[in-house]
Amino acid sequence: MDLSRRSTQAELMDGETVTADEYARCLHDLAAVNRVTLTHRPTLRWLARATRALPRGAHLCVLDVGCGEGDLLRAVRRWADRRGLQASLEGIDLNPRSAVAAAAATPPGAAIAYRTGNVFDYAPDPSPDFVVSSQFAHHLTDPELLHFLRWLERHAARGWFIADLHRHALPYWGFRVLARAAGWHRIVRLDGTVSIARSFRKPDWTRLLQQAGVAAETRWHVPFRLCVGRLK
Ligand SMILES: C[S@@+](CC[C@H](N)C(=O)[O-])C[C@H]1O[C@@H](n2cnc3c(N)ncnc32)[C@H](O)[C@@H]1O
Repeated sequence: MDLSRRSTQAELMDGETVTADEYARCLHDLAAVNRVTLTHRPTLRWLARATRALPRGAHLCVLDVGCGEGDLLRAVRRWADRRGLQASLEGIDLNPRSAVAAAAATPPGAAIAYRTGNVFDYAPDPSPDFVVSSQFAHHLTDPELLHFLRWLERHAARGWFIADLHRHALPYWGFRVLARAAGWHRIVRLDGTVSIARSFRKPDWTRLLQQAGVAAETRWHVPFRLCVGRLK
């Protein structure tokens, strides 16, 4: 496997042959992957840093792009409740099955809105304070990523954060072992390694940010996450 450049191999979950039942099971297992591999930690830490100066009771609005089953938004809800912030939370996902699965997994009191649509056709009004996305960026091609970075700059009022994977041989091979041991769905197992092969090294982000004309911070997080954030 050549990991020296981003793979262009398609993920099975993005194809049209996956049934509704398989899709729901994959999203469920992806939420488990996120839990076991501490996926949401960098985003929650970034949000904590971004809102450090806000007093308890303050209001903030967060949009999650490519929200899948909505587990990041539920984690943001728990964090905001603990922090005493009043959060309006919204997720957008291209696949209509995501909104159904996310709504089913969300307790009624959590008050999270799930929308179906292509982020590039969405102009949120008013602009959310913060836009986050987790394990979404590697689904995009390089030209789409430039478009996404500019979209974030235009629509995130106070800042944005992209949480994604670090393209490295250790997680590439290690994920197969972990996924098999955990009994995760075959599609999650296969897509997991494709996701890592499609993901990023720091020079990828440096080049993309430069081409988009955006100044943002790229940081590595345990385990093998490469995240990009910008506070305005
Ligand atoms: C790997 S999943 C990540 C889901 C979730 N954030 C997580 O961490 O489990 C990527 C998600 O991005 C969605 N997606 C892909 N392209 C999109 C687009 N242009 N606009 C909105 N969502 C998109 C897919 O439907 C998919 O649910």
